[in-house]
Amino acid sequence: MEEKLLIGPFTQLLPLSGLPLKGAISDEKLLVIEQGGLLISNGRISEIGKFSELKKVAYRIERVEEETVCLPGFIDAHTHICFGGSRANDYAMRNAGKSYLDIAKAGGGIWDTVTKTRKETDNSLVDGIVERAKTHLSQGTTTIEVKSGYGLTVAEELKMLRAIKKANNTTPQDLIATCLAAHMIPKDWSGKPQEYLSEITENLFPILLSEKLTNRIDAFIEESAFTAYQIEPYFKAGKALGLDITVHADQFSTGGSQVAVDFGAVSADHLEASGDLEIELLAKSNTVAVALPGASIGLGCEFSPARKLLDSGACLAIASDHNPGSAPMGNLITQASLLGTFQKLSNAEVLAGITARAAKALNMNDRGELSKRKLADFCLFPTNNYQEITYHQGQLLPSMVYKNGKKVF
Ligand code: NIG
Ligand code: FE
Repeated sequence: MEEKLLIGPFTQLLPLSGLPLKGAISDEKLLVIEQGGLLISNGRISEIGKFSELKKVAYRIERVEEETVCLPGFIDAHTHICFGGSRANDYAMRNAGKSYLDIAKAGGGIWDTVTKTRKETDNSLVDGIVERAKTHLSQGTTTIEVKSGYGLTVAEELKMLRAIKKANNTTPQDLIATCLAAHMIPKDWSGKPQEYLSEITENLFPILLSEKLTNRIDAFIEESAFTAYQIEPYFKAGKALGLDITVHADQFSTGGSQVAVDFGAVSADHLEASGDLEIELLAKSNTVAVALPGASIGLGCEFSPARKLLDSGACLAIASDHNPGSAPMGNLITQASLLGTFQKLSNAEVLAGITARAAKALNMNDRGELSKRKLADFCLFPTNNYQEITYHQGQLLPSMVYKNGKKVF
């Protein structure tokens, strides 16, 4: 039975639909529906428009506060929220002058989190994800990508991916898992890097599919991790199985974005080190460029060249990279707002980056905008002007969040 639930009236309803998926967007392109409403049937949007019009066909009405801006639920297309331990000591060392790579080489960095994550039980890993997802929900995020990559053996990566799957059953949000077994060469692996990757492709990849753990794989292309040459068989094997590819690219040095484009990756993430050549390459491709301002803030380095990427015609998404090492803060709306401030992005570019364009980075076309048949995922802010949201840089929080048409916060 069709439910036809009407929610509203919203002082401003921004569907963020019909925006270009590539290139710069000015705020004039934003459709703002005054006194808008959403008609919802079976967890999806069946109509969007003026509240007064939709009232005529609704079976049930849920009214909201007088001052409310409604936006699509935010999509965080890159996180590592499945982990054990803290890296507060790395942070202090960095602020005392040590570089990220220095710390990694000295035994800190990703490997430190690997040893701590391996010590977690299945349940404590799930609890950690659920708790972090709860915080993200209060900030308006309704879809969260979650990577493995702190296990680095077949068994430990499986433990992480199963924990993400289990957490997905308890969190109101959709958790989209990604296998990042190629996060670094495990320090306790005695063979060659290529042999580690073959172990993963031969013994882990088939289980990703048989247990329906994920359809996405990721790799870190960097001096401290894998070279473009080493990663080829890993991505080839994944592609042959029909897995989507995403890449940690150009964080400290270039090379990763070329790999991403060559393999037709859905996204190339980081890009702090990308220059004109890489920007051009990404702009011409169908690969989404994902800026991770949380990593720039956590590490104290440059932001990704978001303005240049947009002006060159790239599709720019923005994600939190929430992880214990480089991006412990995790607040997507704060980080996206700050990227906007430092890179001179319009509200439309910031908001599209955490909604419609982030959905493209995850290769999902059922969300990211409020239009007919899309999931009824949205967040409500207690204001009468959408510009207040980025202006407050994350201090203005949603008063309510809906997932699949149900109030979950
Ligand atoms: O996205 N760049 C590599 N991976 C993570 C960092 C993870 C960590 O330091 O634990 C990132 O920044
Ligand atoms: Fe990352």
